Amino acid sequence: MQSKVTTSSLIKMKQDKQKITALTAYDFPFASMLDSQGIDMVLVGDSLGMVVQGKENTLPVTMDEAVYHTSMVSRACSRAMVVGDMPFMSYQGALDRAVENGGRFLKEAGAAAVKLEGGADVCPVIEALAKAGIPVQAHIGLTPQSVHQMGGFKVQRDEERLLQDGKDVQNAGAFSVVLEGIPSPIAAKITEELVIPTIGIGAGPDCDGQILVLHDMLGINDRFLPKFVKKYADLAALAKQGVSEYVEEVRKGSFPSADYEYK
Ligand code: KIV
Repeated sequence: MQSKVTTSSLIKMKQDKQKITALTAYDFPFASMLDSQGIDMVLVGDSLGMVVQGKENTLPVTMDEAVYHTSMVSRACSRAMVVGDMPFMSYQGALDRAVENGGRFLKEAGAAAVKLEGGADVCPVIEALAKAGIPVQAHIGLTPQSVHQMGGFKVQRDEERLLQDGKDVQNAGAFSVVLEGIPSPIAAKITEELVIPTIGIGAGPDCDGQILVLHDMLGINDRFLPKFVKKYADLAALAKQGVSEYVEEVRKGSFPSADYEYK
């Protein structure tokens, strides 16, 4: 078995200019497939709310749901680093509650780290979590939990603020930062100026690594896909074809045939 991906191996990958591969997953079977293909990081994103639970945005996801899904993913990953995504309002209030919630991902769900959204505003939370021994991945740029404040899912272009956010979360103790919905030249500049690895989603090719939402890149759902998503497979079409054949065969009585019955 290859050795487990850690916060220090990710920093070494950045230094060695080796791209970091990351995807989201929410359950055991998909997480096993990702781990078997050598993915470096599996994020149990709060995108769970949209791609698994069928909700409009990520805001309704609860701590119990996030812990439940993260535990399934952790059981499947022998090499990949598992990161649990802290749900909306699980870290925005009192610091001790944020630490308690962050701790649940490591203690109950077997994750190696947590992710949370925000820049300078969440630095006290990052500091408190890091002090408690909980590795934190920051997430700046387009932060979906602030969808109402941003007035929609919009590309973020304030270079000075984004650069400062990146430096602030690094100084607060984050081991890595997700850059979402940021023009490529700005993401490249942040990546160059930070010591910690940047993981891009809709942030161009120069980030230290890339992440996509699994259900988007495998074509599992039919919802609108942002420009930055490349569809690597069309699993929905395959699944629908299988189900349609089954329905047809059961209706006409050709399944189960002799091969599938006990004598
Ligand atoms: O929730 C999620 O899946 C994420 C990724 C898009 C980075 O935050």
